[in-house]
Amino acid sequence: MSGPRRLHVKSFGCQMNVYDSHRMADTLAPEGYVETDAPEGADVVILNTCHIREKAVEKVYSELGRMRKLKEEAAQQGRRVVIAVAGCVAQAEGQEILRRAPAVDLVFGPQNYHRLPDLLARAGRERVVDTEFPVEDKFDFLTAPSRDKTRSRGASAFVTVQEGCDKFCTFCVVPYTRGAEVSRPVEKVVAEVTRLAAAGVREVTLIGQNVNAYHGEGPDGRAWTLGRLLHRVADVAGIARIRYTTSHPRDVDDSLVAAHRDLAALMPYLHLPLQSGSDRILAAMNRRHTCADYLRVVDRMRAARGDLALSSDFIVGFPGESEEDFCASLDVVDEVGFAGAFSFKYSPRPGTPAAGMDQVAEDVKAERLQRLQARIDCHQAAFNAACLGRTFDVLLERSGKRPGQLVGRSPYLQPVQVMAPASLVGEVVAVTVTEIGSNSLFGALAPAHMPAAPAASERSTPAFMGA
Ligand code: SAH
Ligand code: SF4
Ligand code: F3S
Repeated sequence: MSGPRRLHVKSFGCQMNVYDSHRMADTLAPEGYVETDAPEGADVVILNTCHIREKAVEKVYSELGRMRKLKEEAAQQGRRVVIAVAGCVAQAEGQEILRRAPAVDLVFGPQNYHRLPDLLARAGRERVVDTEFPVEDKFDFLTAPSRDKTRSRGASAFVTVQEGCDKFCTFCVVPYTRGAEVSRPVEKVVAEVTRLAAAGVREVTLIGQNVNAYHGEGPDGRAWTLGRLLHRVADVAGIARIRYTTSHPRDVDDSLVAAHRDLAALMPYLHLPLQSGSDRILAAMNRRHTCADYLRVVDRMRAARGDLALSSDFIVGFPGESEEDFCASLDVVDEVGFAGAFSFKYSPRPGTPAAGMDQVAEDVKAERLQRLQARIDCHQAAFNAACLGRTFDVLLERSGKRPGQLVGRSPYLQPVQVMAPASLVGEVVAVTVTEIGSNSLFGALAPAHMPAAPAASERSTPAFMGA
C-alpha cells in the first residue's frame, strides 16, 4: 500500500465520546493513519455514537445512509472505504447495526477501543462485531497523543477519570452501554494531565458519566475521592483551570465542597443535573434524592464558593408527570436561578424500566419543553446581563469572527469575543465585559491585564451572583 491511510472520526453525544474519538485517532496514528476533517476521501470512517435518546440514534442511522453513498462512490473509483460504528449505539445494538446498515464493516463498543488496530485489520476480511466487556483496561493500551497533536486540539482538554455508572436511573441507558462504574488510578490521571500541560494545555475538564463517584486508587493504595484528585491536579504546573462533569447530587461529599472552597483554579461553574423538581418523579426516576436534598447541596456549594453558578439537566414528560409535577420543575428553576440548563423530552429507551411505564402524550411533552426552556432562557439572560461591566479571567482559545478578534471562555463557559493579539491564544487574561450578545459576551482586555502565570492561583473570579 502506498501513502498514509486517511481516518475520519465523527463524534455524537457527550464529552466522553469526544475524548474517546481523540484516543482512537491517537491509537491509530502509529499504524499510519492520518486524521481528516471530512468523511469524503477517508479510507476509514468511524462514527462514535450516542444512544441516550431516540433522536440521537436516528441521527446515526441517517449518517450511515450518507456513508453508504460515500462508500459506493468510492467503490466506483476502485477505492475501499471501511465504515465503523463505535460508542453507545454500537454497544446497545451490536449485530443489529449490521442488519440495518449493510454498509457497516465494523461495530465495536466503548470498552474495546484499544483493540482498534486489530479490529480494523479483521474488518478488511469480514464484518466484525466486538461489544464484549474485556478484562483488561483499555486505558493501559491506548496510545498517548503526540505533543503536536495535543497542541492542535487547543488549550482546553478533556481527561476521562471515571467511566460507567451504577446508578440505574429508570430512564437511562448509560449503565447498559458503558457498563459498571470504574475509576482510573490517580497516578495515571496525573501523568496524563502533566503531559497535556507540557504541550501547552491550560484547562482540563475531568470527565466521567458520574464523575464525583470517582474512587480511583491513590499512590497510598487507598481510594481517593474526586475532591482529593482535584487538589492533586491543581498542583500540576501549567494547569490554570480545572472543571469536572457530570456530577450526581448524591455523590457530592465534603471533599468536593472543600475543593471548591480551596482551589482558585477550580472554576466556579457546576453542572449538577436535577432532572425534575418533583419528589414523586425523582423517586420514579430512581434518583434517590429529593428536591430539598438537591437544594441543600447547592447551599453547601455556594457557601464554599460565593461566585458559584450552576447548570442542570431536566427531563420533561417522564412517565406519570402531572402538570403539578412539571410546575415543580419550573419552580426550582426560579429558586436556584440556573445560569443555564439543558432540557429534554423524555425518550423511552429499550430495556430501561421507565419505557414500560405509562407514557405522557407527545404534544404535552412538547408544550412543557417549550415552557421550561423559556423559563431557563430567562434566567440565563439575566445571568449574562449581570456580567456587564465585570472583569474576569478568560482563557483565549482561537481566533474570532472578526479580524484581530480572539474568542475564549469565561469561568462560566460563556464564549467571550475580545480584540487581542494572536500571541495571546492559550493564555488566561483578564477581560472586562463591555457588551452582551445573544450567543456570546464581548469584552476588552482589562487595562492592567497580565497573562496569569500558572502559579498565580490566588487570582479569583469576582463574585457577582449575590446568592
Ligand atoms: N450522568 C448524568 C447524565 C448523563 S445523560 C446524570 O446523572 O445526571 C445526560 C442527560 O440526558 C441526563 O442528565 C438527562 O437529563 C438526559 N437523558 C438521559 N436519558 C434520557 C431519556 N431517556 N430521555 C430524555 N433525556 C434523557
Ligand atoms: Fe444515567 Fe446519570 Fe443516572 Fe447514571 S446517574 S443512570 S448516567 S442519568
Ligand atoms: Fe450518549 Fe453514551 Fe455519552 S449514550 S451521552 S454517548 S455515555
